[in-house]
Amino acid sequence: MLATLLAVLTASSLVSAQSAANQAYTPVSGACPSGFEVVRLVGPVGNQTLNQQEVEYISTRKANVLPDAWKTYLANIQATNASLPDYVASILSGESRYPNVGIASSGGGWRATLWGAGILNFLDARNETSAALGTGGILQAAQYLSGLSGGANLVGSFAQANFPTIQTLAFGTNSTDPTSAWGGWLPQINQQDPYTNATQNAEYLQELIDEIRGKYAAGFSVSYNDITARDNGRHFVNGTNAENFFNDTLLHGAGYTWSSVPNVPTFASYSQPFPILIATLLSPNGNFSNIIPNSSDIVPTSNPIMEMNVFEMGSYDPTLAAFTPMKYLGTTNDSVCWTNYDQTAFVVGASGDWNTFYNTSESVLVNSYVYPIVTALNESIPQTDIVLDSSLFPNPFRASIMNGTFIDENETLIMMSDGASDGEAIPIQPLMVKARGLDTIFALDANQDFANAYWSAGGSLVNTQNRINTLFPTAYSMPPIPTNTSEFSAQNLSIRPTFFGCDTSTEAPLIIYIANGGPPRNGEAPLTNQQPSNLTLDQTQAFLDQVYAIAMQGYPTNASEVNDPEWPACLACAVVDRARNATGTERSGLCSSCFERYCWNGTEVALTTTTTTKSGAQSMGRSVMGVVASTLVAAALAYF
Ligand SMILES: *[C@@H]1O[C@H](CO)[C@@H](O)[C@H](O)[C@H]1NC(C)=O
Ligand SMILES: *[C@@H]1O[C@H](CO)[C@@H](O)[C@H](O)[C@H]1NC(C)=O
Ligand SMILES: *[C@@H]1O[C@H](CO)[C@@H](O)[C@H](O)[C@H]1NC(C)=O
Ligand SMILES: *[C@@H]1O[C@H](CO)[C@@H](O)[C@H](O)[C@H]1NC(C)=O
Ligand SMILES: *[C@@H]1O[C@H](CO)[C@@H](O)[C@H](O)[C@H]1NC(C)=O
Ligand SMILES: *[C@@H]1O[C@H](CO)[C@@H](O)[C@H](O)[C@H]1NC(C)=O
Ligand SMILES: *[C@@H]1O[C@H](CO)[C@@H](O)[C@H](O)[C@H]1NC(C)=O
Ligand SMILES: *[C@@H]1O[C@H](CO)[C@@H](O)[C@H](O)[C@H]1NC(C)=O
Ligand SMILES: *[C@@H]1O[C@H](CO)[C@@H](O)[C@H](O)[C@H]1NC(C)=O
Ligand SMILES: *[C@@H]1O[C@H](CO)[C@@H](O)[C@H](O)[C@H]1NC(C)=O
Ligand SMILES: *[C@@H]1O[C@H](CO)[C@@H](O)[C@H](O)[C@H]1NC(C)=O
Ligand SMILES: *[C@@H]1O[C@H](CO)[C@@H](O)[C@H](O)[C@H]1NC(C)=O
Repeated sequence: MLATLLAVLTASSLVSAQSAANQAYTPVSGACPSGFEVVRLVGPVGNQTLNQQEVEYISTRKANVLPDAWKTYLANIQATNASLPDYVASILSGESRYPNVGIASSGGGWRATLWGAGILNFLDARNETSAALGTGGILQAAQYLSGLSGGANLVGSFAQANFPTIQTLAFGTNSTDPTSAWGGWLPQINQQDPYTNATQNAEYLQELIDEIRGKYAAGFSVSYNDITARDNGRHFVNGTNAENFFNDTLLHGAGYTWSSVPNVPTFASYSQPFPILIATLLSPNGNFSNIIPNSSDIVPTSNPIMEMNVFEMGSYDPTLAAFTPMKYLGTTNDSVCWTNYDQTAFVVGASGDWNTFYNTSESVLVNSYVYPIVTALNESIPQTDIVLDSSLFPNPFRASIMNGTFIDENETLIMMSDGASDGEAIPIQPLMVKARGLDTIFALDANQDFANAYWSAGGSLVNTQNRINTLFPTAYSMPPIPTNTSEFSAQNLSIRPTFFGCDTSTEAPLIIYIANGGPPRNGEAPLTNQQPSNLTLDQTQAFLDQVYAIAMQGYPTNASEVNDPEWPACLACAVVDRARNATGTERSGLCSSCFERYCWNGTEVALTTTTTTKSGAQSMGRSVMGVVASTLVAAALAYF
């Protein structure tokens, strides 16, 4: 009986070992190119250098693409006949310098994916409503777009699908070759549990595990994130649609690498913002006293925030200050080079691996929804000494190169967890790297800041401000924001767009904060106060439309108005404000009154101050199984 079962299992493993997805997911080794260096040191704070390919991308984009993009945006805002001061038009037509804009889209599961998408739609020149409103075009003019967790699902899929409209991104494109085209997010299919039948879900899980066997056979540790990567491949990477979702002969995103995004046409023509995904280093060597108190966070804020862009992976935090080439992820020396490790779905999944249970009790892990999955993995592919529920990367940042400067330099593997595992769900850190020179940053926030509701109240920004002020005051400049979420709530800073840094040092960027802070003003029932999973396509459209309606509101002066008619003009004032300051021109006219209304004035008024309520890994993340974990994973336990 057992022998028969084993024979069946072995036969099925052999068959699946040859599946197209399994092969395409397997890293490949070869000789390194001449002059290859596995680590690039970014240099000291104050004199950090960017990757040369990134520099080339941004400079060509600024020279060849952005002038027309700003021209389109200017035409859109001018067509509204808003009485803007003259400097807005002169800046947007390139008479001085253009604004340097970045957009950061937060974590928060499907809610955040859809929140970010709805706001990007509002800024997209291709949406006729946005063009007519005078807000469309900012997306096309942005230099950078960063995403974390649910926001990484958005940014990752957006970049690799060739920067389509948000409607096409969400719902897919019709193609004569649906096995390679973008099929949409398929939100109606539950992630990891696509069937209602438990037996079929177990078979699906086994199929995902079978698709990672080749990677293991090639000598790599595989973990929970490889399984979710194969599920992500069906939702956020080309080649899957509702009709072929369960066809197990297809690639389902396997073999599509993050480092090959530069080959997609809009990237090759410098026409999309430079995409960046964020995760956090889950180190056994961190200073655990730096975990935010009274939070559900699991990663000390002193651990490096890891950035994964299409050219490299690493961190500008002074605690790492080094990168390794994205294309050669998996490589740890300068002679044997691995490729194909940087699967898009795997990198996106590392940003969103909020399912990491770390350093907690055995019973917590055993009772979690992660347990059956890591158990199935452990039974199928037994491994020793690895943390099964994290994201694993062979460590290129070794002691021989780092000389004691990196906490994990003596580790064989580096581990990562959801970008928000340190309490910072909005990925603005990479946009504040001084070498990138951004002066205007959109912070799109759909992170959960309340214990009993899914609304946002600035918790991630508070945590980022604390991290920078206490740990990295010279590496990054952030404009002052309130010290706690009560203050955001008391001043309504998250239920309307708020500008931060209006009259403080221009060393720091101006932040345009657009949060999922409350219901729409149009009287509709709120749809965004939830942690959605398997939304129907109609529900997805309704969600996107409601985010769009909220984006249009601005901050009406009159409580009876739904939308502020001046909001698009005020947004233009904010977009150009740092560039205006650089010309020595005083803020004036409509822009002055806009700033009186939209800026946080630096005052704290809340009667009670509390620390951030609920910001962290467990409050964001993907809604994979609709279960919110309450604590972290046992180190001992995770080492099966
Ligand atoms: C900054 O780095 C460049 C290139 O590595 C070097 O030439 C220059 O001297 C450095 N400047 C400072 C102030 O360290
Ligand atoms: C702006 O003004 C022009 C010229 O007066 C007019 O044709 C156009 O309809 C106005 N647009 C809006 C949105 O009011
Ligand atoms: C794709 O084509 C089918 C059949 O023509 C149609 O029903 C569907 O709405 C189309 N989908 C999209 C996203 O255009
Ligand atoms: C994904 O498909 C779209 C068309 O649907 C295409 O433009 C894009 O280049 C594809 N991306 C990749 C990475 O193949
Ligand atoms: C969809 O989600 C709901 C609520 O999370 C769940 O009860 C239902 O089983 C899911 N349906 C499928 C097909 O997974
Ligand atoms: C669930 O799926 C299994 C395997 O396909 C099948 O044998 C079983 O009948 C299904 N159960 C139900 C309740 O449909
Ligand atoms: C799976 O996809 C392949 C390639 O498109 C196709 O030939 C095959 O018929 C599909 N299988 C099923 C069961 O639909
Ligand atoms: C470590 O020392 C080596 C050899 O001197 C040097 O090349 C490298 O730049 C140093 N690394 C750091 C992070 O300073
Ligand atoms: C790594 O090991 C070397 C040699 O034992 C040691 O000198 C160094 O301090 C270690 N690095 C860290 C970050 O612990
Ligand atoms: C513009 O966005 C709205 C709101 O989501 C959407 O309903 C509409 O279809 C979009 N228009 C285009 C052309 O994408
Ligand atoms: C530029 O910003 C700085 C810092 O807020 C301020 O002191 C200065 O007056 C501003 N200059 C102009 C022309 O607005
Ligand atoms: C700043 O904003 C707070 C909260 O809205 C308000 O109470 C205070 O009067 C404002 N201060 C100034 C100087 O405008």
